[in-house]
Amino acid sequence: MSAPEAKGGVAVLASGEGTNLQALIDAAARDGLSRIELVVSDRGEAQALVRARTAGIPAIHLSPANWSTRAAYDQALADLLAERGIALVVLAGFMRILDADVVRRFAGRMLNIHPSLLPRHRGLRTHRRALEAGDRLHGSTVHFVVPELDAGPAILQYRIAIQPWDTLTGLAERVRHGEHFIYPLAVRWWLQGRLSCTDGQAHLDGKPLVAPLVATRDMAPIPG
Ligand code: GAR
Repeated sequence: MSAPEAKGGVAVLASGEGTNLQALIDAAARDGLSRIELVVSDRGEAQALVRARTAGIPAIHLSPANWSTRAAYDQALADLLAERGIALVVLAGFMRILDADVVRRFAGRMLNIHPSLLPRHRGLRTHRRALEAGDRLHGSTVHFVVPELDAGPAILQYRIAIQPWDTLTGLAERVRHGEHFIYPLAVRWWLQGRLSCTDGQAHLDGKPLVAPLVATRDMAPIPG
């Protein structure tokens, strides 16, 4: 699907600290384009809700405890996004696996950031797994969301070399630093109508992204 709905707003779904949300809020303030109209969290204590309210963005705690099934919760979430006219759904540390029907409803309009170089290390504990596997490279991937977990077409990766002295927390911090650069960039591309997903293939500026674009520590090679 292309991105003709770029008139609609952006919703960010987040479960935790919300540093990626903050990067998106800051980018929106700079470019005036990536406006965030709604933040939703499944966790009432999420710092992301505080960040949203501080920025004057409507922030909703949608507690899974109020729905009897996972599918019903996901449906309510999707209905809320649709009611608010949300064009693009941005998952930023939203630690739930969404129902396949909901993912299909937002096909080509839902992005995720995952802290590994996909397809390596899908799922949880990615930094630990990268260290334990002795990986030389690690990082984070922005991708379109499809029903299969962390398997959607990759758009953009931030890559760093794992150093012998890297600790779990240090590595996680270095990866997150890069996420704060690549995620706003991908969101902006989508809102500009440059980024789309058709038949399971991501496209940037009309060209298929056969492999994700790569940002490294010096952040040079990305068109912007
Ligand atoms: C980010 O590192 C993001 O890649 C990861 O959660 C963190 C959220 O940080 N997402 C996942 O693990 C999703 N599978 P933040 O709340 O500070 O933005």
